[in-house]
Amino acid sequence: MCGIVAYIGHRDASPIIINGLKRLEYRGYDSSGIALLTPEKELIIYKKSGKVSELEEIIKGKNLYANTGMGHTRWATHGEPNDLNAHPHLSGSEEFAIIHNGIIENYVSLKLALTKRGHTFKSETDTEVLIHLIEEVYKNNDVGFEEAVRMALTQVIGAYAIVILSKKDPNYLIGAKKGSPMVIGIGDNEHFIASDATPFLEYTKNVVYLQDGEIAIINGTELTIKTIDNTVKTPYIQELEINLESIEKGGYEHFMLKEIYEQPRSILDSFRGRTHIKDATISMAGVDMFEDKLKNIKRIIIIGCGTSWHAGLVGEYLFEDFARIPVEVEYASEFRYRNPILDETDFVIAISQSGETADTLAAIELAKSKGATVFGVCNVVGSSIPRFTDAGAYTHAGPEIGVASTKAFTAQVTALLLMALSIAQKKGTLTSQRLRELLIEMETLPAKVEKTLLTDPLIKQIAEEFKDSKNALYLGRGYGFPIALEGALKLKEISYIHAEGYPAAEMKHGPIALIDEEMPVVVIATKHSYYEKVISNIQEVKARKGRVIAIATEGDLEIKNHADYVIYIPQCEESMLPLLATIPLQLLSYHIAVMRGCNVDQPRNLAKSVTVE
Ligand code: AGP
Repeated sequence: MCGIVAYIGHRDASPIIINGLKRLEYRGYDSSGIALLTPEKELIIYKKSGKVSELEEIIKGKNLYANTGMGHTRWATHGEPNDLNAHPHLSGSEEFAIIHNGIIENYVSLKLALTKRGHTFKSETDTEVLIHLIEEVYKNNDVGFEEAVRMALTQVIGAYAIVILSKKDPNYLIGAKKGSPMVIGIGDNEHFIASDATPFLEYTKNVVYLQDGEIAIINGTELTIKTIDNTVKTPYIQELEINLESIEKGGYEHFMLKEIYEQPRSILDSFRGRTHIKDATISMAGVDMFEDKLKNIKRIIIIGCGTSWHAGLVGEYLFEDFARIPVEVEYASEFRYRNPILDETDFVIAISQSGETADTLAAIELAKSKGATVFGVCNVVGSSIPRFTDAGAYTHAGPEIGVASTKAFTAQVTALLLMALSIAQKKGTLTSQRLRELLIEMETLPAKVEKTLLTDPLIKQIAEEFKDSKNALYLGRGYGFPIALEGALKLKEISYIHAEGYPAAEMKHGPIALIDEEMPVVVIATKHSYYEKVISNIQEVKARKGRVIAIATEGDLEIKNHADYVIYIPQCEESMLPLLATIPLQLLSYHIAVMRGCNVDQPRNLAKSVTVE
């Protein structure tokens, strides 16, 4: 969480930084700030609680011309979100300024020691402690700016992506990273530093992803990369493939809506080039690499958080159905602290849209330390998880900006489906003929998703009915169960309506007590394995006056006798149900949230990428 952006070059820095902060706002948005080093060597700082637009308001009309500067958008960890705790933070002499994404875990002991040595602090943040430490090292050791940063960082425990400016060295911009993302954009005699590449895409696509324990020193137009142990590294420059349009709203009112509507394309992109109908094969380099291991594997462990964990649950059904491999699905945050039993025979799949989720990264580290093979299923190219895993598959959903995950989820499920089918084929638990049938069915998915999106006007009407609900229940069986969980998460995170997802049969063991005429109950009731059982569950809800919204299979007229509202989706293979049935639930949450006046793309208290545990 928290977004950082910095610039050094020949352009006016403040518009670049403000635009960059707007693009990074998905990472946190409770306050923001900017620091600029003017040609007169003045360090100007503005910061404000609230959105970047509020910061923009207070700097409007001010002469802020500078060729070097940095900005920050915050998701509070230490200290409430107010003007004082907003970044940038200054050192005691106010000659150094810092922005920071991450957590300095030993900040209490550092602060205590610095306080004893006469330092006083203005904010409650861990970040201010770090800039005081850097200044102290600078003053006490007769070293240069970059050396002071390096030496100070050797005393720091925790995670950080930091950028520092010094009034004494106005030609310098220094960045450092450990555990939080940082990418350097290399332009024509100019450099950018940011949490991701979106702030500078219109200026350059040439980037260097800073690695953990590295420091980037930009002196004028020259970039040097060093490790914290003072070893000089050769920057590895990559060219990005994302374009500007993919990170803009493209005429939609919200990113979330745009991303929901992108799913015919994003699902296609996640299987394009990997499926070969003619010879009934799947090519996934990361899976093929482990062919021998996977043929004999005893179990798979899937780890993730939030929506990615839900995708993992779908994966459990897929791997067990097709590849006949037992699967355990774990919350990364629990797994990492649970002393799990695993060894080199295990295959762990880590799922993450951002590739930066702190708990998932720590769980990967633990699994690797026990000798397991770790496979990443990630969306953001070049993020930490693909770098820390043994192999992996990108989901190719394209940038997802809305905090609520939509297209990333369906792309994750698509990638897991491909993996399950590929392993099943290698193990011989799936015949070529059946695999071919499934691949043919996959080809029809983009069109079926398009058709599912046509239910949008009906869903808007249903949303109008239920927008004032206080609670909602989502039920499903089999593949419908993770969909119910995902539907409930979408509703609560963007509309602030309390919602729970349950396996439909579990309703009788508690949640049924909540059902009355006020309670909307969304049921995944498609014509698959458990159809009759689900109809019985709907009747149990109806007998208690609950109001049922059913997601049903096109052509099923019977369901109308049981449910109050029916949203039809096209007929599909049961294993592909999550790819269609999730979409109406995304739309339902979206419309309810809009009707309730909620900030759909940036719901309160949330951040897109959770880089703190
Ligand atoms: C989904 O809508 C959420 N915003 C959240 O649960 C998210 O899926 C979770 O934080 C995991 O993120 P990741 O996929 O980037 O690891």
